[in-house]
Amino acid sequence: MNSKTEELKKIRDEVFNFKESPLYAERVKNNVFPVLGEGSHDAKVMFIGEAPGKNEAATGKPFCGAAGRVLDELLASVNILRKDVYVTNIVKDRPPMNRDLFPDEIALYSPFLMRQIDVIQPKVIATLGRFSMQYILEKFAPLTTGGISVLHGQAVEGKAPYGKIIVLPLFHPAAALYKPDLKDAMKKDVKALAALI
Ligand code: URA
Repeated sequence: MNSKTEELKKIRDEVFNFKESPLYAERVKNNVFPVLGEGSHDAKVMFIGEAPGKNEAATGKPFCGAAGRVLDELLASVNILRKDVYVTNIVKDRPPMNRDLFPDEIALYSPFLMRQIDVIQPKVIATLGRFSMQYILEKFAPLTTGGISVLHGQAVEGKAPYGKIIVLPLFHPAAALYKPDLKDAMKKDVKALAALI
């Protein structure tokens, strides 16, 4: 096993045993899985969503439900293969009823995400939705201002512990499910992503 795979496995094992999190009890009660992430450990692009939904917790795989189908369609539109990128979330366990993330859940789980980023060292982080945009911009490009309706599709230069990084805020794919009008903007934004790699 190479050292990246070993380190990611260590993170996975820690999340599996993360009894300190209130979401751990929910996971055990519902007999579901945490979702660590999936894809290439050498990915140039890392997608970061919010937290697993029902389908994701049932399978342990990120973005495998309705939002995942939108993400797949967007990637296919610019010939990006899911196996070549890495897809994960900030929070690794499913919040009940898919409610918004609590700040203390982000605080609890984000160190795992930061370690994943350090291992994979992506050139581009594509954030999916406002929670991950806010978290990642604060970490890597803290002077950036503006909400997702302004920043989506705009590459922001940032600084990761391992060097330069580009953060590209994207709308959350689930947004297209209740606001189909957003699909055109999402397709345009994913073209901007393809141009970066
Ligand atoms: N929504 C997310 O933010 N992440 C997933 O993995 C699935 C849906």
